[in-house]
Amino acid sequence: MRKLISRKNTNQRNCINTYICSVKSIKNTVWWITGASSGIGKDMAIYILNNGGNVVLSSRNEVKLKEVILQCNANENNYLILPLDLENTGNTEEICFTVIKKFSKIDFLINSGGISQRSTVAETSLDVDRRIMETNFFGTVALTKAVLPIMIKQQSGHICAVSSVVGKFGFPLRSAYSASKQALHGFFESLRAENVKNNIKVSLIIPGRINTSISNNALTKDGKVHGVLDDGQANSMSSTKAAKIIINGILKEKKEVLVGGKELLMVYIRRWFPRLFYYLASRVNTK
Ligand SMILES: NC(=O)c1ccc[n+]([C@@H]2O[C@H](COP(=O)([O-])OP(=O)(O)OC[C@H]3O[C@@H](n4cnc5c(N)ncnc54)[C@H](OP(=O)(O)O)[C@@H]3O)[C@@H](O)[C@H]2O)c1
Repeated sequence: MRKLISRKNTNQRNCINTYICSVKSIKNTVWWITGASSGIGKDMAIYILNNGGNVVLSSRNEVKLKEVILQCNANENNYLILPLDLENTGNTEEICFTVIKKFSKIDFLINSGGISQRSTVAETSLDVDRRIMETNFFGTVALTKAVLPIMIKQQSGHICAVSSVVGKFGFPLRSAYSASKQALHGFFESLRAENVKNNIKVSLIIPGRINTSISNNALTKDGKVHGVLDDGQANSMSSTKAAKIIINGILKEKKEVLVGGKELLMVYIRRWFPRLFYYLASRVNTK
């Protein structure tokens, strides 16, 4: 019994230590987050600002980015609102210069901006496939390539890409989305291997279902927004909880951070029982 209580106390102490350690590690660091106007990106920005970090908040919607700032303890010295469109990344070097001018360094880049899909391969226009690849893959790659020389010069930094469980397998109604996320794995694993010598860390974040507007904002076959909060989404993990898990995973320098609920099981079913996975995936209603 005494052993059990002492183990419980040690666990509690470890939890508190982990929390204190993560808060300490956030203090005075500089994080650049895309997709910071909504969902996971927004809650990561709030968590970091509330714990003494500095954040560059990026997405297309400047008004929404300013509203995020109103929800946390931040003063002007600690944040920079830097609108950008991942579909149009011709000015990435220029905006990197703006970040360096304000903060002199970039410790973390979290590529969270992205767009999902709700349409079958047969019905989806190639323009929609290209748009999803442009936003989720090429936009993320462009920003990463602009930040990389800064981190190489610093000889430190940490770059993260928010992928998805469908970055681990293909799934009905997500063809281009899944392809864009799987492409991220190839790119960022290569980036990691090339930059160990430069002391640059790379993490892939793999959410299952998180309760955000992702399904509302998803593109349908002709590029219109889906506009529906899917049932699965509505009953899933909150984005505030997901944000904390992700940031703590990053601070622990995890190469992959899986976050979500029981849907994460699909990753293991695909790995260990592929035939069961193929069967389950084929049963999804695509109407
Ligand atoms: N929620 C989930 O269940 C789930 C699961 C797996 C993976 N993910 C991934 O998690 C990341 C965050 O998604 P979320 O769930 O937080 O969804 P969300 O609430 O819809 O947020 C998406 C963010 O991406 C930004 N964005 C979209 N297109 C952009 C563009 N062209 N340029 C710049 N920013 C753009 C949006 O901002 P603006 O509209 O202001 O540009 C918004 O801030 C995404 O990469 C998503 O694929 C989410």
